Parts: sequence; structure tokens; C-alpha cells
Amino acid sequence: MFSFDRRDFGPDFTFGVATAAYQIEGGQGDGRGSCIWDTFSATPGNVHNGDTGINACNHYELWPQDLDLIRDGGFDAYRFSFAWPRLIPDGTGPVNQAGVDFYDRLIDGMLERGIKPYATLYHWDLPSTLQDRGGWMNRDIANWFADYAALVANKFGDRLEATATINEPWCVAFLSHFLGVHAPGYRDLRAAARAMHHVLFAHGTAIDALRANGAKNLGIVLNLEKSEPATDSEADRQACDFGDALFNRWYLGGVFKGEYPEILTKWLEPYLPANYQADMEVVSRPLDWLGINYYTRGLYKASSEPGRPVEQVKGDLERTDIGWEIYPKGLSDLLVRVSNEYTKKPIYVTENGMAEVEGNDDPRRVKYYEDHLMAVLAAKAAGADVRGYFAWSLLDNYEWAEGYNKRFGLVHVDYETQKRTPKASFRAFQGMLHNSR
Ligand code: NOJ
Repeated sequence: MFSFDRRDFGPDFTFGVATAAYQIEGGQGDGRGSCIWDTFSATPGNVHNGDTGINACNHYELWPQDLDLIRDGGFDAYRFSFAWPRLIPDGTGPVNQAGVDFYDRLIDGMLERGIKPYATLYHWDLPSTLQDRGGWMNRDIANWFADYAALVANKFGDRLEATATINEPWCVAFLSHFLGVHAPGYRDLRAAARAMHHVLFAHGTAIDALRANGAKNLGIVLNLEKSEPATDSEADRQACDFGDALFNRWYLGGVFKGEYPEILTKWLEPYLPANYQADMEVVSRPLDWLGINYYTRGLYKASSEPGRPVEQVKGDLERTDIGWEIYPKGLSDLLVRVSNEYTKKPIYVTENGMAEVEGNDDPRRVKYYEDHLMAVLAAKAAGADVRGYFAWSLLDNYEWAEGYNKRFGLVHVDYETQKRTPKASFRAFQGMLHNSR
């Protein structure tokens, strides 16, 4: 049980759960095109155990019971993502009607159950045909993505409570094109620099397309961390400033101020697209809200390896099963910082949660949520305009490069039988949400 009441968050605060298409849907038939995670995961060494999203949680068929769980948990909203290759199998061109029908059923199913749909356009499942054309390295992606956004606005926009363009642009760009951990698995600074700009430029063109086609309540979802220096030394403090620029300020500065941190434009100067400055007005189109995904802090020290400006180290806080330090104070600090320095628009915590070893009794996760929700209350008390909170995730699911080995769900999934079993953490939310309506 949580120690607070939903009323402590104010009358209009939205509680929800979040998922993403590739991580839960399965259902790769029915006209869905191939995406970069299908091929990345088929390549040995990229994903733990060679796991793929081919079956995942079979949400493609089991969605009615998943929506029932959300309703029974007492949640107000469901943050889900559209699979671009399910709607437009080749990324551009012909539309897959079976895909349109699936999301029609899903959205109508939410509305029938009194659940508000919070949609994301891009949660990492880039159509493979677009990767063949350079994917996020190709400036044309801003047009491809805008056309896809227009389709979503036309087909579904009237029923969506809110729409985000991109989920976690740092992961789309840097993790996937410089660190090589996520699809398409590049380790190339020029590729990364291009993706870092194009992902935000495409966000801007998609905002224009969504608005022009009548979609309302538009935002972006950034993964932010609390950056801290490993020691008090000047070198580590400088490393922290660089890490903060790379992880947080590139995206916050681009989207809300139309400018990238100088420390990075200097570093990336030889690799950034020519005349990127001319795009900054599109990058910084006004938004209606900001989503923040928060999991942990980043601890930095100066790197001695040539070409690598900073190094991340592990601190000594308690860790989750994926090895991330548990640091609720980082969430309040971040929310207050973003609201003081970047935007007064409503902020949603669009993801927060922890990986825990398999089991339906998950007291550490209950405490994780308790402490992070308290952190949200602290940020609200300090003046941050936080309007909602989404737990990651409704279900145990496909944790990208970690495969099915890392479990973030409020609900346990037995991948052999696809049986769903609510965990104690689900019951904790249910208790709070149902008892104080
Ligand atoms: C952020 C991502 O949006 C989501 O897809 C992922 O599963 C969680 N973090 C946990 O790593």
C-alpha cells in the first residue's frame, strides 16, 4: 500500500501506465512491415539470448484483457505507441488497412472502458525500408515522419487525448548510432550527430503535420537523467557538464530554446548536417506539454580514452535488476529544474519504474513507486506543474537489448502461456486509485 492518497496530487492529476508497440504487440503477420528491431535482434550478439519481439506479449490479440487490467487497476490513461511499420509497412506509401483496424479497435476499446489514450508516434520500430535509405541519418526522414504523423492525425486524432512525436530522442540518436547498443547499432560519431539533429527536426515537422491535420495536445517524450559528478574535482565537474549537455540539454535546449549547447556543437561541428541552424525554428515549434521519462541518475568522471570526452561510473546507491541506481530525489530535482529553466507548459512523468527479478511479490518495486511518487509531490510543492504520472510498465515485456530477461511490469507475463498475473505493485496502485476516487 502507498502511504498517500490520489487526492494529494490534486483533482485533475492523471495516473496511467505505459507500453510500446514493439515491446508488447507481437503479431508480425497481418501486413506489418519489417522494422529495424526485427533485423537487429536477428543478428547474434545484439540482444540477450537472441530474443526478438516476434511474439512479445501477443498484445495484438490479447489487447482486450490488457485494457481490462488498466481499467481494473483504476488508471485514468494508457500511454501506448503506434507501430509505424504496421500502419505503413514500407515507411512511406501504401497503408496497411489491418493496422488501421487494429488501432481503431484498441483506441475504441480504451474509450469504452473510460481510459484516455496517450499516443506516441515513434517508439523505435523504424520500418526497415527507411533504414535502407539511411534512416535517422537521412534528412528526408523529416518528410517521411511528417507524412506518417498526418496519417495518424487523420485516422485517429479525434480520439486521442494527447500525442507525442518521439519517445526518448537520446536513445534514437546517441544510444543507437554512437554507442551501438540499440538498433540500428551504429558506432559512428557522424551518424550520431546527424541522427541527433534529424530526430528533433523530424519531431518539428511532425508537430506541424499533426496540427495541420487537427490533432490536439501535442508533445515530445524526453529521457532525462539527474547528472552528477563522481567527485568534486574540477575535471569531474566538467565531465558532468558535458554529460548533462549530451543527455539533457541537447534535447531540452533544442526543443524549448531553439539552440543546442555550444559545448556539443563545437565537438560535433565536423559532423553535423550543413546549415542545421536554419532548422532550429522547426525544431522548437511550441508544444502543449512535455513528457519526461525518469529512471536514474548519471554519474560522470573525466575520461582518459581519446575521443571519448566523458565516462559514466556506477555509484553506491541501491540498484534495480538492470543495474540502475535508485534515486528518487533526482526526479524532483529534474522536474523543478526543467520547469524553472525550460518550460512552464504542463509536464507529465511519462515513464518511471524499475526492473526486478521475476516474481509476483515485488516489495522493492512498491517502494520504488512510493518514493518516486513522493518525489513528484515534492516537485509539485516546489512549483513544477506536473499533471500526470505513468508507470513503466503495465506488463513485463521485451526490454530491447536485454530481451525478456529484465522485467518492468506491474503485471507478470508468463511468455509460455501468455498468462497475465498482477503483482503486488499493481495492487498498490489499484488500492490508491480505487479507494480515493
Ligand atoms: C525507456 C523506454 O522508453 C522503454 O521502451 C524501456 O523499456 C524503458 N525505458 C526501460 O528501459
